[in-house]
Amino acid sequence: MRNLIVIAFACIVATIMSVEALAANCSKTYKVVSGDTCSKIASKAGISISKLISLNSQINAKCSNLQVAHKLCLSTTKSTAGKTTTTTKKTTTTKKTTTTKKTTTTKKTTTTKKTTTTKKTTTTTKKSTTTTNTKKTTTTSSTADPTSAELVYNYGLTVQVSSQSDFCLFLPSSPGGKDDNNGKVDVEAISKSEKNAVAFCLKNSAKAPGARTLPTTLIKTSYYFKNITAGYVQVTGSFNPAAWELSSQDGGGQYDNHGKGSPPNSMCYGYRYYVGLIEPDGGHYCMRCCNHYDDCHAGRSTFGCKRVVDNGVYL
Ligand SMILES: *[C@@H]1O[C@H](CO)[C@@H](O)[C@H](O)[C@H]1NC(C)=O
Ligand SMILES: *[C@@H]1O[C@H](CO)[C@@H](O)[C@H](O)[C@H]1NC(C)=O
Repeated sequence: MRNLIVIAFACIVATIMSVEALAANCSKTYKVVSGDTCSKIASKAGISISKLISLNSQINAKCSNLQVAHKLCLSTTKSTAGKTTTTTKKTTTTKKTTTTKKTTTTKKTTTTKKTTTTKKTTTTTKKSTTTTNTKKTTTTSSTADPTSAELVYNYGLTVQVSSQSDFCLFLPSSPGGKDDNNGKVDVEAISKSEKNAVAFCLKNSAKAPGARTLPTTLIKTSYYFKNITAGYVQVTGSFNPAAWELSSQDGGGQYDNHGKGSPPNSMCYGYRYYVGLIEPDGGHYCMRCCNHYDDCHAGRSTFGCKRVVDNGVYL
């Protein structure tokens, strides 16, 4: 009887001691079962053996004193606290991202709406002023750039510049401007066609609806350049005026879409602005299409290609 009491007391003390051996900050406990090794316990708990030993000071360095039914600590509140902190941080980040996205979306929507409104007004104006014998096509650009979004491209009045072998220019609609000069070559065919020139391209392009094909021998050289930073594209080079019966005395002229446009309602696909010059007397041409007004040098110019598109090649 007395022995029993002693054993019972010893058990209670042992239990208390083993409980006390667990750190007060222990958040996850484990009861050792028969056959357990530190390696098994650690791998089940997803921690390293050294971590297991460090969490349980009662286990010796070789882990040779595991005892069945003893409680071990598998993790402490500190690591749990760390996890909580991480979660909180992640949540905060997510919220921030969401907020930013929302703001951006709102801004974009506003811009689009503004553009649409402006464009609608422009379209209406153009419809009322354009003569009816011109077949019209309205295309909407799908380019991501908001400055080139929803521009109006008129049939036969739209050029495009895609590469040195795929571009368009404006030229008088008849060779040498003869149709507007009693059947004779007009020495000022270019400047006189600033109101009724039409688009001519090296090849057919969906970006230049209704454009005609350039006479095959007209273009002698072409140099393409795209300035992505500035948002413009250009083609420059030399041409053979005789291929369109243009006079070698013709001082040339400028086509652009500043103001009402010369020719009116003309456009370069994918860009809000363009400026192009044809100079039969020098045998040079240039065409630049821009997102920004300042890059397509404003104002009617007598300076010529070498000043208007000054980084062009004219060899
Ligand atoms: C848990 O508490 C013990 C003391 O009881 C301390 O030595 C240990 O660093 C604590 N561990 C963590 C992870 O907070
Ligand atoms: C491209 O445009 C940028 C910005 O306007 C300008 O600084 C740069 O000189 C241009 N590059 C060339 C080769 O013209």
